Amino acid sequence: MAQTHFTAAAFLVLVLISSSVLMAESGIGVNWGTLSLHKLSPSTVVDLFKQNKIEKVKLFDADPYCLNALRGSGIQVMVGIPNEMLSVFSSSTDACDLWVSQNLSRYMGKGGVDIRYVAVGNEPFLTSYSGQFQSYVVPALLNLQQSLAKANVANFVKLVVPCNADAYESSLPSQGAFRSELTQIMTQIVSFLNTNGSPFVVNIYPFLSLYGNSDFPQDYAFFGGTNHAVTDGANVYYNAFDGNFDTLVAALNKLGYGQMPIVIGEVGWPTDGAISANLTAAKAFNQGLINHVLSNKGTPLRPGVPPMDIYLFSLLDEEAKSILPGTFERHWGIFSFDGQAKYPLNLGLGNGLLKNARDVEYLPSRWCVANPSRDLSGVANHMKIACSNADCTTLNYGGSCNEIGAKGNISYAFNSYYQVKKQNSQSCDFDGLGIVTFLDPSVGDCRFLVGITDSSSSNVEASGGQLYYESSCCLYVLHSPLFFFCF
Ligand SMILES: *[C@@H]1O[C@H](CO)[C@@H](O)[C@H](O)[C@H]1NC(C)=O
Ligand SMILES: *[C@@H]1O[C@H](CO)[C@@H](O)[C@H](O)[C@H]1NC(C)=O
Ligand SMILES: *[C@@H]1O[C@H](CO)[C@@H](O)[C@H](O)[C@H]1NC(C)=O
Repeated sequence: MAQTHFTAAAFLVLVLISSSVLMAESGIGVNWGTLSLHKLSPSTVVDLFKQNKIEKVKLFDADPYCLNALRGSGIQVMVGIPNEMLSVFSSSTDACDLWVSQNLSRYMGKGGVDIRYVAVGNEPFLTSYSGQFQSYVVPALLNLQQSLAKANVANFVKLVVPCNADAYESSLPSQGAFRSELTQIMTQIVSFLNTNGSPFVVNIYPFLSLYGNSDFPQDYAFFGGTNHAVTDGANVYYNAFDGNFDTLVAALNKLGYGQMPIVIGEVGWPTDGAISANLTAAKAFNQGLINHVLSNKGTPLRPGVPPMDIYLFSLLDEEAKSILPGTFERHWGIFSFDGQAKYPLNLGLGNGLLKNARDVEYLPSRWCVANPSRDLSGVANHMKIACSNADCTTLNYGGSCNEIGAKGNISYAFNSYYQVKKQNSQSCDFDGLGIVTFLDPSVGDCRFLVGITDSSSSNVEASGGQLYYESSCCLYVLHSPLFFFCF
C-alpha cells in the first residue's frame, strides 16, 4: 500500500516536472506558398501578417522577394529547401555553403529576417516518390549543419525535415511505428534532431482521410465530438488529429525519443473544388483545431503537451498548383488569392477575427463571358486552353461553380483566363466567342473573379505557361482499418 502511494506520488512529481518543462502554449503560424496566378506583392502579404498578429511563417523555398519583404518584420521564418536540391546537397559541401550564404546568412543579423528553421526537403519520404529522395536526406542534413556552423548561424537556425504522416503507420496510435524501410533513416534523423534541439515536423491532413475514403467517419475528422471514437487500450480518441499525432509519438518512442517536441508543419482544410471542401467545413476544422491546440489539453500520450507550433495550410489560395492531389488543391487558403478572409476565423493570437489585406489594387471591374449571340458548339478547345492556363476547379463536382450550367461553365473559363492575362483585350477573343461585360456575372456562391494588378505574377508565364507542382500535400490516400494516412 505504502509502496503504491510512494509510486503514485513520485509519478505525479515526475509528470509535474516534465510538463512544466515541456508545457508552453502552441505557436500558431501559417504556410506561405507562392504558386499563384495572381500574386499579391510580398509587402502586402507581410502587412497582412502584421494585421493578423501572425508571427510564424513557413516558406517552401528561399524566395528573395518574400525574404526581403520579411526583413525587419520580427516574424519568425522557416525557409525551405526543395526535394530536388537534396541530391546535390548530399554530395557537395560547397553547394551547401553557397546555399547558406546566399539564402540564409545574408538575410540574417540586425534588421534582417528572423530565420529560425530550415526545412530540408518537403515530405521527402512520401510513398508516391518511391524513395527517390530517401538516401539524400541524412547526408544533406549533415553537410548543411556544417555549413551553418561555418557561417556562425548554427546557434540561431535549426534544421528540420517535414514529413508526411505516411512516414509512420499503425492500426492503433499506441502501436505507431515508422515505415519499416525508413527505420534506419528515421533513427539517424531523430538522433540528429535531438542533438540539435530540433523538433520533429509532421504534416497531418484529416481532410485527405475523409476525401479519399468513403468509410471515414465524417465527425472523426473534426473536433466537435464523434460517434466513432477510437479506443486504444485505456485511451480513447475523439478526433483524427489526436490519433494521428499520438501514432507519431508512439513511433518516436519506439526509437527512444518519445519526448521529442513535435511541430505540425502543415494542417488545414480546403474550401472549394471538391466534395467536403467547403467554407463551413474549413471554418469548423480550423477553428476546432486552433481551440483544441490552445486548450493545452494535449493528447492521451502527451497530456497537457500540445504541439510546439502548428502552421496552417495555407495562407492564400494558389491557382498555379498541380491538381494531381485532387481538384481541391488550389483552395487551401484561409484567405482567397487577393488576401480577403474567406470565413471568420480567430487564430487565437489575441486579435479577434481575420483581417483582410489592405490596399489591394484590382484590375477594372470587367469580366469576359461567352457571347450570347454566338453558336458555342466549337468552344471545347478554347475551354481546354483557358482552363489549362487558369483555374477552373471550382466548376468540379462539389465546387462552388458546379451548378452554373454549360454556358456558365464556358463564361467562367473565359473569365478566369482573361483575368490571368491581366484583361488583355485579345485574351477575351476566343475566335469571337468571348465578350467583355461590365456586369458581374457571379451567381450565388460562384464568384467570377477580378484579377489584381500585381507586377510579379509573370513567374508562371515565364516558364511557358506550365503549372508548377509544389509537393506540399498528399497525392493519394491510403486507408488502413482504423487510421487513415495520406501519402
Ligand atoms: C536559393 O534559393 C532559391 C529558391 O529556393 C534557389 O532557386 C537557389 O538555387 C538557391 N541558391 C543556391 C545557391 O542554392
Ligand atoms: C461541407 O462539407 C462537410 C464535410 O464533408 C459536409 O458535411 C457539409 O454538408 C458540406 N456543406 C456544404 C454546404 O456543402
Ligand atoms: C461544367 O463543368 C464541370 C467540370 O468540367 C462539369 O462537371 C459540369 O457537368 C459542367 N456543367 C455542364 C452543365 O455542362
